[in-house]
Amino acid sequence: MKLDETILPLLYMLAAIGFILAIKWLNSPATARRGVIVGEIGMLLAVVGTLLRFEVVQYQWILVAFVLGTAVGIPIAYIMPMTAVPQRTAFSHACGALASALIGTAEYYKGINQGPALTSVEMTALIIETLLGFLTFTASMMAFGKLQEVLPQRPITYKGQNFVNLGVFAAAAGIGLALIISPERTVLFPVFTVLALTFGVLLIIPIGGADMPTVIALLNSYAGLSASAMGFVLNNKLLIVAGALDGSSGFILSIIMCRAMNRSFSNVLFGAFGQLQTTVASSEARPYRSASAEEAAQILDSARNVVVIPGYGMAVAQAQHKLREMFDVLTKRGVSVEFAIHPVAGRMPGHMNVLLAEADVPYDKLREMDDINPEMANVDVALIIGANDVVNPVAETDPKSPIAGMPIIQAYKARTVMVIKRSMNPGFAGIDNDLYYMPNTLMLFGDAKAFVSSLVKELSAIARAA
Ligand code: TAP
Repeated sequence: MKLDETILPLLYMLAAIGFILAIKWLNSPATARRGVIVGEIGMLLAVVGTLLRFEVVQYQWILVAFVLGTAVGIPIAYIMPMTAVPQRTAFSHACGALASALIGTAEYYKGINQGPALTSVEMTALIIETLLGFLTFTASMMAFGKLQEVLPQRPITYKGQNFVNLGVFAAAAGIGLALIISPERTVLFPVFTVLALTFGVLLIIPIGGADMPTVIALLNSYAGLSASAMGFVLNNKLLIVAGALDGSSGFILSIIMCRAMNRSFSNVLFGAFGQLQTTVASSEARPYRSASAEEAAQILDSARNVVVIPGYGMAVAQAQHKLREMFDVLTKRGVSVEFAIHPVAGRMPGHMNVLLAEADVPYDKLREMDDINPEMANVDVALIIGANDVVNPVAETDPKSPIAGMPIIQAYKARTVMVIKRSMNPGFAGIDNDLYYMPNTLMLFGDAKAFVSSLVKELSAIARAA
């Protein structure tokens, strides 16, 4: 009984089913843990299956890679804070894409030096694999650098930039085509490699640090497509399936993120968004009202229902655990508390959901934007914690605004709006927020964690006194 024909396809099929179920179950927080486990089992089966392919395996080197990977991977998983997940993801994509590109390179030289010669179909897949692999490697490293702030976050633009970028890409694609037609022209391969690597760097230079999560979802898609192309080169069906899943899910995710920001792909990739961020928005003095923790606690305590709207500032301040305490105190006092989640609140998809789940906020208290907006007019208090753009009414009222058309959580409809943030400074989009100047809005200045902590103290004192 040949392994290649019996056990291997079975293991690969089970692994593919595991990946598909993982994506399905990751769709809902209720089934997400199951999704992670089934995905891990799928990956284990894929690795075991590959290790059974005796003809391609050198166990001693795999053991070295296994030890090194474990030694690096486990500490990264523990040390990396939640807010650094986007750059950690970028780093993982860089490694995956480089692996894919290097395998493509090895296959190319193997085909040239030892044969059998690569067919034009195999060469096409190999060129796609290496092009996407190399450009995703440098682009992901640049994204990592920008998010980790080892590289300047702001977009760097110059005249004719898109023309230069397009030129480099066209040159890489042209040389790739020449290699498909005549693979024996080996001198072209290093040139092709350098152009692909260069394009990855150039692609990211004009993109601002805050747009990186969207770009990372797109790079995820490229890395997946590269792996899928590698599956065609290596004649490995599981790689084709897993790469296609990765490629399509990354692409869908980036579309969802763009839609939720009301931005187009071209705006994210070429719009140099975020330049405004370096300058503080309109300094024109407009009157606003602020309140102390004591006053805010009184208002919260006398409300029937409170909707908490968390944003990036909650993540930065790590205020979710204090928020959970506030939820407990208010619930005990008979106040209904729900959390309104905007799809792009924070800096990565599901950012708020993950943080609130970490603090054990009951999941049925989390409401999606479209679901809660029709009820906002019946809400006594909208308590905004470190969110800014996702509640800015300018998105609905000013067609010229950079966030015009972006769907928002309609906090302005609530009877009272309270906003916890440290200053009147703008958020990611770099624009002033009209909500802060509305007559029903109270600004609660301070760090989100410290302020919510004071609210919990005040609310507990009210509860004790009652
Ligand atoms: P932002 O609009 O970025 O506003 C966050 C606010 O948090 C800031 O105005 C800041 O004000 C405040 N803040 C920062 N640190 C704080 C702290 N320690 N304590 C209290 N407040 C603090 O955030 P948002 O409303 O969540 O919107 C997200 C933005 O990111 C959107 O524009 C979205 O398009 C963009 N974006 C999101 C994603 C994803 S996938 N989520 C990806 C890319 C881009 P102060 O400085 O005054 O405190």
